Amino acid sequence: MFHEHALERNKKSILSSLKKCMDPSGGSLLEISSGSGQHIRLFETIIACTHNLSNVLPAKYLVVSSEPSVWLSGQLMNIQYDYILNINMLHVTNFIYTEGLFRDSCCALNPKGNIFMYGPYTNNYKLSPMRKFEFDSNLEMYDVKWGLRDITHQLIPNAFMYGFTLTENVAT
Ligand SMILES: C[S@@+](CC[C@H](N)C(=O)[O-])C[C@H]1O[C@@H](n2cnc3c(N)ncnc32)[C@H](O)[C@@H]1O
Repeated sequence: MFHEHALERNKKSILSSLKKCMDPSGGSLLEISSGSGQHIRLFETIIACTHNLSNVLPAKYLVVSSEPSVWLSGQLMNIQYDYILNINMLHVTNFIYTEGLFRDSCCALNPKGNIFMYGPYTNNYKLSPMRKFEFDSNLEMYDVKWGLRDITHQLIPNAFMYGFTLTENVAT
């Protein structure tokens, strides 16, 4: 039940950011690293409020960092999404997947598209409070390639290489 508890903690801030940034008339969204799908169900709620229909497609297997041309045997190649959503993935993956996320999003999004990201990150490598330091240490003990990614020194520069700039950073 751990993830239900975490969801309860973060759903308010994710929902309010999504609502603020998304076009109320709609749009297409690809969630990468959906896991159990617990967050996309929230997203469905937003849309259901305005359109009164269920429009979340079934989950499919997709690995960022492979070429988008091979995602789902190329099925996504002709779709340009309005939004990409990525929650709680980067700290539990090798850094190559951080780079892959931005590189691949650049191909999968329409030119005015946005990426929404949520997760435990650091800013200027600041590992406080103590529980953040402990969390990062535990991640690295589990896998040396895992760890909290830094917004200033890793996410912003990497995203910039693929044409993305940070428009809003909401601390939760
Ligand atoms: C900690 S879980 C987060 C799941 C969900 N977003 C949440 O917040 O509950 C990390 C997720 O990242 C996915 N993942 C790991 N590496 C990936 C990759 N290279 N490409 C796409 N998804 C990946 C895993 O399958 C897993 O669902």
